[in-house]
Amino acid sequence: MNSIYLGMIEKALYGYLPSTDCNEGKLIKSMKYSLEAGGKRVRPRLVMEFNALCGGKNETALPFACAVEMIHTYSLIHDDLPCMDNDDLRRGKPSNHKVFGEDTALLAGDALLTLAFEILASDKTAKLAGEKASRRAVNVLAKYAGCKGMAGGQMIDLLSENRSVPVETIFELIEKKTGNLIQAACELGCIAANADEEKIKAASEYGKNIGYAFQIQDDILDLTSTDEVLGKPVGSDEENQKSTLVSLLGIERCKELVREYTSQAVASLYRIGGNTKALSFFAMDLAKRVN
Ligand code: IPE
Ligand code: IPE
Ligand code: MG
Ligand code: MG
Ligand code: MG
Repeated sequence: MNSIYLGMIEKALYGYLPSTDCNEGKLIKSMKYSLEAGGKRVRPRLVMEFNALCGGKNETALPFACAVEMIHTYSLIHDDLPCMDNDDLRRGKPSNHKVFGEDTALLAGDALLTLAFEILASDKTAKLAGEKASRRAVNVLAKYAGCKGMAGGQMIDLLSENRSVPVETIFELIEKKTGNLIQAACELGCIAANADEEKIKAASEYGKNIGYAFQIQDDILDLTSTDEVLGKPVGSDEENQKSTLVSLLGIERCKELVREYTSQAVASLYRIGGNTKALSFFAMDLAKRVN
């Protein structure tokens, strides 16, 4: 998946990291390691696409895009820790804790989380986006990443290991652990462009639906892909006795669900108007992704 935004996102992202030439250099190297390991940059690209759709400037959306990617990267570092999913491979490289140790990996996650909010609340971002938009961005990202959002979803995910849970609980954990950060990205793109509430709502709906499709596809790939293609260990869900829709409904029904949620996402774009082609393709590409 290529994107016109990839280059500018990567450049901005690395520009936020301080020099490693200090006593805490190991921490910064560890943050850098996971940020630079690549990844598809799905969330920052969504920020940039929605910002463009709503008529915003790239420069204004970039800090928002970087903040979401930092939260996402922190969530992956912590997700791989032995006390969580215990996975040794991420983005095609050894997981952060395998290289830097669990203690440093924990701190790298913490520091990426705080750096995200430092960026959003900075004078520079407020000057670019306006005080109101940057304050709202802090609020939106905190809400979607916190105890009723991604972190909450991760809690439900862990509590659902080794037991059978109702299908509604699986939908709730998918929406929270994965959908919420994707929703945050879509809303942040609109907020950066000072879009009206109707557009923010439609973008959020798009995010929620591709969030479902994205995690269901992730769970399918966990069963059907290879470590090399996926860049992370396959079979992790089975090993951890995770409750997933795939384990409950089977692969074929889950493939249908991916298509259904993708169509629903694309449908919500009509409420925004303008040239929604890029975001339609984006959703459809994600549904077909192999890693
Ligand atoms: C992985 O997210 C974690 C999930 C929410 C499924 P991505 O598939 O976006 O991971 P990267 O950023 O490309 O590594
Ligand atoms: C985790 O879901 C989503 C996060 C919030 C990190 P998974 O545990 O399925 O993600 P992967 O498969 O390890 O990337
Ligand atoms: Mg997990
Ligand atoms: Mg995992
Ligand atoms: Mg997974």
